[in-house]
Amino acid sequence: SQNTQPHQQANNLWSSRMAFILAAAGSAVGLGNIWKFPYITGENGGGAFVLVYLACIFLIGVPVLIAETMIGRRGGQSPVATMRTLTQTEGTARGWRIIGWNGVIASFLVLSFYAVIGGWALVYIGKAASGLFTGADAETIGGQFGGFLANPWELLLWHSVFMAIVVFIVGRGIRSGLEKAVNMLMPLLFVLLIAMVIYAMNNGSFGRAVSFMFSPDFSKLTTAGVLTALGHAAFTLSIGIGVLMAYGSYLPKDVNIARTAMTIAVLDTSVALLAGLAIFPLVFANGLEPGAGPGLIFVTLPLAFGQMSGGALFGTIFFALLLVAAITSAISMLEPVVEWLEEHKGVSRAKSAFGGGLAIWFIGIGTVLSFNVWEDLHPLGFIAFFEGKTVFDLLDFLVSNLMMPLGGLAIALFAGWAMKREGLPADIGLQGGAFRAFMFVLRYLTPAGIGVVFLYNLI
Ligand code: PHE
Ligand code: NA
Repeated sequence: SQNTQPHQQANNLWSSRMAFILAAAGSAVGLGNIWKFPYITGENGGGAFVLVYLACIFLIGVPVLIAETMIGRRGGQSPVATMRTLTQTEGTARGWRIIGWNGVIASFLVLSFYAVIGGWALVYIGKAASGLFTGADAETIGGQFGGFLANPWELLLWHSVFMAIVVFIVGRGIRSGLEKAVNMLMPLLFVLLIAMVIYAMNNGSFGRAVSFMFSPDFSKLTTAGVLTALGHAAFTLSIGIGVLMAYGSYLPKDVNIARTAMTIAVLDTSVALLAGLAIFPLVFANGLEPGAGPGLIFVTLPLAFGQMSGGALFGTIFFALLLVAAITSAISMLEPVVEWLEEHKGVSRAKSAFGGGLAIWFIGIGTVLSFNVWEDLHPLGFIAFFEGKTVFDLLDFLVSNLMMPLGGLAIALFAGWAMKREGLPADIGLQGGAFRAFMFVLRYLTPAGIGVVFLYNLI
């Protein structure tokens, strides 16, 4: 494939800047914001963690988001092929190609556990609709969730359904599949989250939640917590994993990447903070544990839906929208894998989606079992750092805390130091002082930030 930029043909391009924003924001906004952000904030003590997370978003996340999209548009192919082409055209060392490979492998692994949690959202649509939560207390609702997790077959069923939906959408192709999937449902999710925050203001311990989330107590933050904050900044923006490279390859030349990236980051961050503000007031008002782990939203939100009038309908819509958000993220994870199979193995899109999806589904069984049969299995438990980590915890750690931030680091270094400067201001969409300031951040602050977090965790 010596044909550079095959994706940059008119019929393949995003129909507009808006379509790209919707797709990239669709990838960004997902379970990371609504499921993961609140529970890891709870586990890591609140305010100080949130502050570090916000710093990581704007100091590390946004610059990498910009650089990765720009690289993708320049290369115009799958992440692996884009990196191969760019190492040639930019005259850099071949070693940078690892960025593409890291992306394909990380996307593969991340979807394996993401799909399992996606299955939880799927099930909770039905649970909400059936009125199961109506009038139930915290103990009952916690018991429902625990009972659900205890049954591996049920988790496997919904994991499979979720994967099937994702494979179907991706198999149909970039325009018909992705653009249709990413429609106007996300603004509705945003509105619903605001409604939940208002409910929490009136019915929860709102003041306590605000001070938990926003008054930093650094004594509660460990070095591992800082790494988790960095990892989550990468996870939530979908950076360092080839997704934005893949999506950027379809982006028209005249779209301003810097402005678009900022829009996506602000949107993604608002959704996460709103989710926290909806959940923590209910956690405190009901005497629940903020550090309860991955089940946090599946216990607190049903509790609220069970108490509000019209809660069954509201809850059904909420979990349905959460599912849509999860699907738009999941299809973006399958994209680098499918593009790689298409370009390197010459397999059709439909077959790539099916074959890749099947392999990912299989790996996902490890996560399914982590919540029941393998609950007490800690494969790397003999290493102090991984003590108590299940297969799911290890996969999440490997992808979110290692592969994504290190992929981001490599992208920042590649764009900041290895690529030719000419044409960069126009490609990024920044001129003069703004461009120089951006390059300073990308070349020094972003790598230093990631480097310091890793150094501290190694010592
Ligand atoms: N950003 C997504 C979320 O917050 C997760 C994701 C990770 C998507 C990696 C693509 C790649 O839910
Ligand atoms: Na996100």
